[in-house]
Amino acid sequence: MTPLLILGVGRMGGAMIEGWRRAGTFVPSEIFIRDPNPGEADIHGMRLNPPDGELGACRTVLLAVKPQVWREAAAQVSPHLSPDAVIVSIAAGVASADIAAAFGGLRVARVMPTTAVAINQGTASVCAADPQARARAHALFDPLGRVVEIADEDLMHAATAVSGSGPAYLYAFTEALEAAAVAQGLGPDAAATLARSTLTGAAALMASGDTPPADLRRQVTSPGGTTQAALEVLLGQGGLEALLDKAVAAAVARSRELG
Ligand SMILES: NC(=O)c1ccc[n+]([C@@H]2O[C@H](COP(=O)([O-])OP(=O)(O)OC[C@H]3O[C@@H](n4cnc5c(N)ncnc54)[C@H](OP(=O)(O)O)[C@@H]3O)[C@@H](O)[C@H]2O)c1
Repeated sequence: MTPLLILGVGRMGGAMIEGWRRAGTFVPSEIFIRDPNPGEADIHGMRLNPPDGELGACRTVLLAVKPQVWREAAAQVSPHLSPDAVIVSIAAGVASADIAAAFGGLRVARVMPTTAVAINQGTASVCAADPQARARAHALFDPLGRVVEIADEDLMHAATAVSGSGPAYLYAFTEALEAAAVAQGLGPDAAATLARSTLTGAAALMASGDTPPADLRRQVTSPGGTTQAALEVLLGQGGLEALLDKAVAAAVARSRELG
């Protein structure tokens, strides 16, 4: 599957490179990068901006530029790629058929990753009709965390809304819990440590076994206790469930617009 050509090494391309380095997935010299202005990733030993004539050797192309510029990035390299190359795109909302057309009919897999690929705890939703493209996406993302296959491409909007955007929901929740802690009189340092450490510890506990979150919640909620008092607010009318339903629907709608 190498050489691997990465188009765009910004936040997400850089996070993937970090994850592959940790996992020892690639020899750096097997990675070619096309980016006029690569971000802060450690690309030591990789081939930066090789000439067009070398692109024909690339077996896999990772399309990792912003959706707004993907057509331009595709047009720059497409004439120089081998007909055997496979495209793996992480561009949010850009349909496989459009990508295949822009790359002269090459096989395509779409993936929606999360930034935790940088620490090999990412989540990647993979959608590919072509088995070889799907296998290529697995080879790229299996070392970076969990992979979920999405059979129906239309559901990539939902995967984007739940998973691609999901880390921001947790960060927003953490910020809100910190603010509530400060409102109850705790100092900012204590508020930050209590909120962050409690949530990351609870998430680690959830990840350490198979107990569903509803059961974990019941285990820490005594009838008539403090947690129950809070949950009656959080899970009551117009609470977390209704809010997340609205938030995820808004993200799905936006993903459809961008596509
Ligand atoms: N960030 C996330 O959490 C996330 C999550 C899931 C999916 N994604 C997807 O990942 C993709 C990349 O997002 P990002 O946040 O990593 O964007 P980013 O930080 O802007 O990185 C994109 C990189 O591509 C470069 N670039 C621009 N035009 C190019 C061209 N024609 N050829 C090659 N490189 C070019 C940019 O350079 P300049 O800075 O000079 O423009 C930049 O270094 C997007 O399609 C997004 O939908 C992102």
